Amino acid sequence: MKKIRQHLGWKLFLSYLIVILIGVFSLAVTAEWHAPSALSRHMSSMQTMMGDIDSGMMQDLLGDFRTAINEVLLVSAGLAMLTAVIVSTFVTRRIVRPIQEMTTVSQRIANGHYDERVAVSGEDELAALGISFNRMAHQLEQTEERRRQLIGDVAHELRTPLSSIKSVMEGLQDGVLPAEPETFASVEREVNRLQRIVRDLEELSRAEAGELPMEMRPVNPADFVQTAVDRLRLQYEDKNVRLTEDIPPDLPLVEADTARMTQVMLNLLGNALQYTPSGEQVSVLARADGQQISIVVQDTGIGLTAEQQRHIFERFYRVDKSRARTGGGSGIGLTISKHIVEAHNGRLIVSSPGPNQGSTFTVILPVIQDGAI
Ligand SMILES: Nc1ncnc2c1ncn2[C@@H]1O[C@H](COP(=O)(O)OP(=O)(O)OP(=O)(O)O)[C@@H](O)[C@H]1O
Ligand SMILES: [Mg+2]
Repeated sequence: MKKIRQHLGWKLFLSYLIVILIGVFSLAVTAEWHAPSALSRHMSSMQTMMGDIDSGMMQDLLGDFRTAINEVLLVSAGLAMLTAVIVSTFVTRRIVRPIQEMTTVSQRIANGHYDERVAVSGEDELAALGISFNRMAHQLEQTEERRRQLIGDVAHELRTPLSSIKSVMEGLQDGVLPAEPETFASVEREVNRLQRIVRDLEELSRAEAGELPMEMRPVNPADFVQTAVDRLRLQYEDKNVRLTEDIPPDLPLVEADTARMTQVMLNLLGNALQYTPSGEQVSVLARADGQQISIVVQDTGIGLTAEQQRHIFERFYRVDKSRARTGGGSGIGLTISKHIVEAHNGRLIVSSPGPNQGSTFTVILPVIQDGAI
C-alpha cells in the first residue's frame, strides 16, 4: 500500500487495472442479464428455419453461450491487463522520468548548483513545466550572482577608506605622521566617506525592496528642480561651469515626494557638474508634453559610450574607477535615482552621442490628470 502511495507509476497501473475490472465486470453483468433474451430473440429466426427447439435444448444452448462468453471475457481481461502493464510502463516512463529529473535538479539547486537545468522535450504540460522550472532556476542563478556581486562590491568599497584610516593610524603610532590637524582631517574625510557609503547602502537596499518612504502630494516640478539648482549654484560657480535653466513656472502638477525628487535632481546636476570640465556648460530644462513632463539635464562633459549607457544605472557602476576614488562617488546615486523616479511611475533615461560629446539625463513623470485629485 505504501509502495502505491509513494509511486506515481503504481498509481497509474492501478488506475488502468480499475478501468479494466470495471469494464470486465460490466460486460459480465450485461451478458448475464441480457444473454437469455438476446439468445431467444436470435434463436427464434433459427426456429422458423429448423423447426421447434425444445426448452431443454434451449437451456443447454444458453449454458454453452454463457461459458463461451465467460471464457472470452477471461482471455480479454488477461490481455487487457497485459496491455495495461505495457502501457503504464511506457506512460510512467514518459511522465515520471521528467518529474524525477526535476526533483534531482531542484535538490542540486538547493545545494548551491545554480547552473543546473532540466532537459525539455515535447510540447505538452510537462514540457511547459520544465521550461518554467528552468526559467525559475535562471532567475535564482541571477539573484545569487547579484548577491555575490553586491557583497564583493560592498567589501571593495569599504576596504579603501578603512585601509587609508589604518595606515594613518599606524603612521601616527610610529611617529612617521605628525599629529597635525591636516592628518586628522584626512582621517575625518575617510570616515565621512564610510558614513556616506553606509547611508547610501541603507537607502539602496530600501529602494531595491521598494520600501523608500515617500510622501506623495501634488507639486509643481519647477519647485524641486529650482531647489536643487539653487543648492548647487555656488559649486557650479566655484568650478566655473555655466548652469543655464529653462523652467516654465506654469508646468502641470505631478504627484511627487518633493524631498526625494530634489535628491534625484541633486544627483543628476551633481554628476553633470562632476563630469563636465571647467569653462563648459550644463543646462536644465523642463517641458510639459501631453500626459507627461520631461526634466532634462544636459551637459557638455565627458559623455558616455553606448556600453557605458547600458550599465550606468547599475549599482556601484562607475566609468572611471580611479576618478571616482578622488571624486568621492560610489556609483549608487543613479541607481537610487532610478528607483525613486520609478516609484513615481516615471522613467529616468540617459543618452549621449559618445565620449567627450556630453550626456543628457531625462526624468519623465506623469502629470496629474484633471479630476484625479
Ligand atoms: N553626466 C555624466 N557624464 C558622464 N558620466 C556620468 C555622468 N553622470 C554619471 N556618470 C557616470 O556614471 C557613474 C555612476 O553615477 P552615479 O551618480 O550613480 O555615481 P557617482 O556619481 O559616481 O557616485 P554617487 O553615488 O556619489 O552619486 C559615475 O561614476 C560616472 O562614471
Ligand atoms: Mg552621482
